[in-house]
Amino acid sequence: ESTLAAAAEQTGRYFGTAIAAGKLGDSQYTTIANREFNMITAENEMKIDATEPNRGQFNFSNGDRIYNWAVQNGKRVRGHTLAWHNQQPYWMQQLEGYDLRQAMINHINGVVGHYKGKIYAWDVVNEAFDDGNSGARRNSNLQRTGNDWIEVAFRTARAADPDAKLCYNDYNIDNWNWAKTQAVYNMVRDFKSRGVPIDCVGLQSHFNSNSPYNPNYRTTIQSFAALGVDVQITELDIQGGSASTYASVVNDCLAVPRCTGITVWGVRDTDSWLGSQASALLFDGNGNKKAAYTAVLNAL
Ligand code: XIL
Repeated sequence: ESTLAAAAEQTGRYFGTAIAAGKLGDSQYTTIANREFNMITAENEMKIDATEPNRGQFNFSNGDRIYNWAVQNGKRVRGHTLAWHNQQPYWMQQLEGYDLRQAMINHINGVVGHYKGKIYAWDVVNEAFDDGNSGARRNSNLQRTGNDWIEVAFRTARAADPDAKLCYNDYNIDNWNWAKTQAVYNMVRDFKSRGVPIDCVGLQSHFNSNSPYNPNYRTTIQSFAALGVDVQITELDIQGGSASTYASVVNDCLAVPRCTGITVWGVRDTDSWLGSQASALLFDGNGNKKAAYTAVLNAL
């Protein structure tokens, strides 16, 4: 096959990218994105601050621009993200306790309701666990509403759109040996045993020298899948752009039937949240395919 999307489709998987609404007028960007990818994540436009800038007042203009571009070009959409400590609007940052819990539920109902029947999978909860060796939840205003906030978010999302897959998404849960990975694994196992609706785990997979790709990635993917959830690689980028590391990530996903797709976090290096000098993506700043691109295509 000659594109990432077509090659991934041959394996029953998708290959996606993050898209920024502000770049939809850049024809080099949209040409590459349209040709190579068949799953789209809004890089920022479906986050809490973007979709509910004032309490109870929803704004889907930029989220809808990305959604419509994707669907008009025959692509599916991952929703990102409904409950997160980061990129909360100012009004939500001020909330605690019962009031915040109600605001979270209202937010999920508003956003998932707007996109009901249209989203392949939602990152319902993003980055809820601490880094380091504790395996604890991250301290946040959402966590302080009570330990059950994550399952409440999932139950709310399921009721609002029974057809969307519901994912827990995080970084530094790709290394099987890390306490954070084990903590998320235990949460997913608990959710499955108690019937809390969860369908997938998103491994962000931002790899760099502090959080490098580890060959036990495949074990991590297999272990989550064995709990009865899909695994999706949701925000892949590799600082330095190692072609062989990109190939390893693809091979690890392909080794597990329930690893259903891979999304890279941007199109060209100049689009990366890490800056172009990180050289973390598959296309250079001129839109040329990098060695990492060829490695990924050959691995698929
Ligand atoms: C990043 C975006 O790429 C940036 O444009 C924005 O300024 C900050 O957020 N984990 C996530 C993503 O789940 O939403 C983040 O995206 C990158 C880390």
